[in-house]
Amino acid sequence: MASSMHCKSIIGRCTVGLRRVNDLKVAACTSWMQHRPLSTKFPEFQNNPQLQSHDQIYQFSLENPDQFWSTLARSRLQWSKDFDTVKDCDIIKGHIKWFLGGQLNASVNCVDRHLDTLGDSTALIWEKDEPGTEEHVSYRQLSQMVNRISNMLKKHGVKKGDRVAIYLPTSPVAIASMLACARIGAVHSVVFAGFSAEALAGRIEDAKAETVITADEGVRGGRKIPLKKVVDESVSKCPSVKRVFVYRRTGMGTLGKNDFSLDDEMAKESDVCDPELMESEDFLFMLYTSGSTGKPKGIAHSTAGYLLYAMMTQKHVFDYKVGERFGCVADIGWITGHSYVVYGPLLNGATTVLFESNPIYPDAGKYWEMTERLKLEHMYLSPTALRMLLKEGDNFVTKYDRSSLRKLGCVGEPLNREAFEWYRDVVGGGRCDVIDTWWQTETGGICITPRPSEEGAPILPGMPMRPFYGIAPALVDQKGEEVTGNDVKGALCIKSVWPGMARTIYGDHQRFLNTYYTPYPGYYFSGDGARRTKSGYYQITGRMDDVLNVSGHRLGTAEIEDVLDDQEEVAESAVVGYPHDIKGEGIYAFVVLKGEHDMPLDKLANELRGMVKTRISSFAQPDMILFAPGLPKTRSGKIMRRILRKVAANKPDELGDTSTLFDPSVVDAIVEKHEEVY
Ligand code: PRX
Repeated sequence: MASSMHCKSIIGRCTVGLRRVNDLKVAACTSWMQHRPLSTKFPEFQNNPQLQSHDQIYQFSLENPDQFWSTLARSRLQWSKDFDTVKDCDIIKGHIKWFLGGQLNASVNCVDRHLDTLGDSTALIWEKDEPGTEEHVSYRQLSQMVNRISNMLKKHGVKKGDRVAIYLPTSPVAIASMLACARIGAVHSVVFAGFSAEALAGRIEDAKAETVITADEGVRGGRKIPLKKVVDESVSKCPSVKRVFVYRRTGMGTLGKNDFSLDDEMAKESDVCDPELMESEDFLFMLYTSGSTGKPKGIAHSTAGYLLYAMMTQKHVFDYKVGERFGCVADIGWITGHSYVVYGPLLNGATTVLFESNPIYPDAGKYWEMTERLKLEHMYLSPTALRMLLKEGDNFVTKYDRSSLRKLGCVGEPLNREAFEWYRDVVGGGRCDVIDTWWQTETGGICITPRPSEEGAPILPGMPMRPFYGIAPALVDQKGEEVTGNDVKGALCIKSVWPGMARTIYGDHQRFLNTYYTPYPGYYFSGDGARRTKSGYYQITGRMDDVLNVSGHRLGTAEIEDVLDDQEEVAESAVVGYPHDIKGEGIYAFVVLKGEHDMPLDKLANELRGMVKTRISSFAQPDMILFAPGLPKTRSGKIMRRILRKVAANKPDELGDTSTLFDPSVVDAIVEKHEEVY
């Protein structure tokens, strides 16, 4: 069998069975794992007596990845042309390719192939911002929307390989636009419709997108958001943009020279459109996310590998059964929206909820009123939302009937014990599994999750616990050596390859390699730290780099500092995170001014916040701004963020050794000021 480092495998050549590959064995099996019946069945393996328990199938997925993934790819996806090479991967070189030679189309897999059996079933339930209003879209109606938009895009000159920016609220038209891009082979780049004009412009430019799809306005929490105005401002800075399609959400505004009404253009088109045949490795989409330095990066995902992984994880992590209603309340502007609002559920023929609103509008009972009304079996949300809701009291939950719920998922940040217990006991009434899932934009789908696992396997608070099929986590120390055994910590890496992993950073493959593959050669490095508990379960300890996680949104400290530094009174700044009750992490900015300045500090702080809002988004605004006389720097000029983090966390007694600083007195001056924050 080929080594795990570089294996180019042709189907048919690999052997069946349960041979162990030592470097892919995962730490710790616990006694409950012994051959209990598997809760989520694999029809593909039902006749193989060696593949009946979860543990057996998991080990098989690591030891025979080609057999495992090729079997599932063939049985679960619909191909126009079968693949001839299961994978061609070299993890040392960050070279990842799956299902070579195969051809397929994502929109066919998500929509067309369900038409015979599920044509009249609901594909999308649009839970609109207006309280209690929902719209149902069947698979047949979705197919018609997708085909009309596909024809419209083609008529306006959009071709295979072109990038299309989508700046839309979570809505049926947004999903149909994503799938229409996929149908004609264009690469969609969804930008969260809360990003500012400048942030949107940066993403449009980086992708060299010629086409933007947006709405006149968004509606969230009862407030109108002028999306078209933001797009106009962005497009004025982006010479690449040739056309903007505007969906009528509220009926506001007028169209300019290169603008087209999406509704009118769609109405002119036929609802039949032949799908483009895509190679497995053609890009399906790109999605921007923050890194520790530089501009946000356009993470690019392939077609076949991503689809298979999104489909597999949605089905098996949540034990999803056709006919159930899947309530992932993420916005489509984030990876969770891509994988668990759109692709995973639709590939599995699910009814998926599109949540346009926010969890406290009109009140903190929003999710649970929706759960009762839509009879949701699955909820998938963020710890920040849970922490916010639990503070509002149990009555907002208990007054609604939640008996339909089976699985309660959670993603994006650590799920603390209090929120876990509230979710399990109050929301789920102690009946449902609480599934804390760890993954990233780059991993395409869920990688560490308590389910699937053997029937009755324990689920503990505070950790995602177990790897998904095909995922071999590794904890690596500073020397790049894998830390073995249990009750240990390290950099969270993955040493196996899996189909859903990102292929590159759009336009900057070198940055991709430097970020994920160079730090620990032979491993994919996540940027997170983790602990393997005494029982062998994984617990995430947080980012190891300068990436903040604010309410589950990823932000680079450098992105915020760049904005602050542009204010003319500001000499330099340093941004760090600090523990925040609701948001998980808050943003604390240390700002050094250039000497004499006229503006009162509270006014300056407001101006700085306003600049961050305009240039990034409101969720990136610092919670705390401290005007510091200087920043603690080493003799080589590096800012010692460790010290700033302690000040921000209000732990001035734990600053540690400051003797290596160029000017240790700066620290005392900062500590003195730390009550005076704006
Ligand atoms: O730090 C980890 C945190 O979110 C990061 C990924 O962010 P993003 O690419 O925006 O994707 C979020 C949704 C998948 C990770 O590097 N994170 C994600 N899930 C968890 C988590 N931290 C702790 N526990 C989790 N379950």
